[in-house]
Amino acid sequence: MTRPLTRTLWGLAAFLSLGVAIFSYRYLPRLGLMDPGILANLFARPWLDVHVAGAATALLLGPFQFLPGLREKHWRLHRWMGRTYVVSCIVGGIGGLVMAFGSTAGPVAGVGFGVLAVCWITANVQAWRMALARRFVEHRAWMIRSFAMTFGAVTLRLYLPLFPLIGVSPEDGYVATAYISWIPNLIVAELYLRGAFTRRVAYRPSNSAVDR
Ligand code: HEM
Repeated sequence: MTRPLTRTLWGLAAFLSLGVAIFSYRYLPRLGLMDPGILANLFARPWLDVHVAGAATALLLGPFQFLPGLREKHWRLHRWMGRTYVVSCIVGGIGGLVMAFGSTAGPVAGVGFGVLAVCWITANVQAWRMALARRFVEHRAWMIRSFAMTFGAVTLRLYLPLFPLIGVSPEDGYVATAYISWIPNLIVAELYLRGAFTRRVAYRPSNSAVDR
């Protein structure tokens, strides 16, 4: 990928992430336009608050962790933002996992969100473990997988308005997004890690304990 294209894609992803994150915080004071189906989730109190506080903060911070300038020149800030990102994902993931059992959209949607929550938590625990072990190649790979799932909050909101255009009911569309909002993101992340979009050497997990 060329540099201008990478920058444009990053800018677009960051803009959408910040927009969705900031708009999502409205669920904390329960202010403004909210989905009644979500408020009716069996575990909305207090788990929607736990979920939104964690997940929206992760979405807010995530894009900045990919800026090479921040990583190289302000590595202390990068580390603190990284720790906050991982904790936010785990808190948001636990909230999301509990709410997956109470979704008014039914068990099929619940399974999709539940599996996502488990994968999201796992990716963040792995990213943290790899950073502690100074295995930075694998740390970066797990962070990319983690953000691919975090970004599912954006892709979900991009897909929802498209369903009526292709004759799918909003209810069925919502169930589908429990899967299609994140599985294709993970596939793209995996292709990227294997060098499908760049001429860089593809990601290969190292056998050594330490990358550098
Ligand atoms: C990646 C893992 C995630 C999982 C497993 C997950 C899970 C869930 C679940 C189960 C619900 C309730 C659905 C229902 O009752 O039908 C929900 C709603 C919600 N989630 Fe997440 N979520 C994730 C990521 C995010 C992120 C990154 C954000 C960031 C903004 C977010 C923000 C919200 C909001 C605001 C709602 C309320 C409904 C809405 O406006 O769509 N979630 N989530």
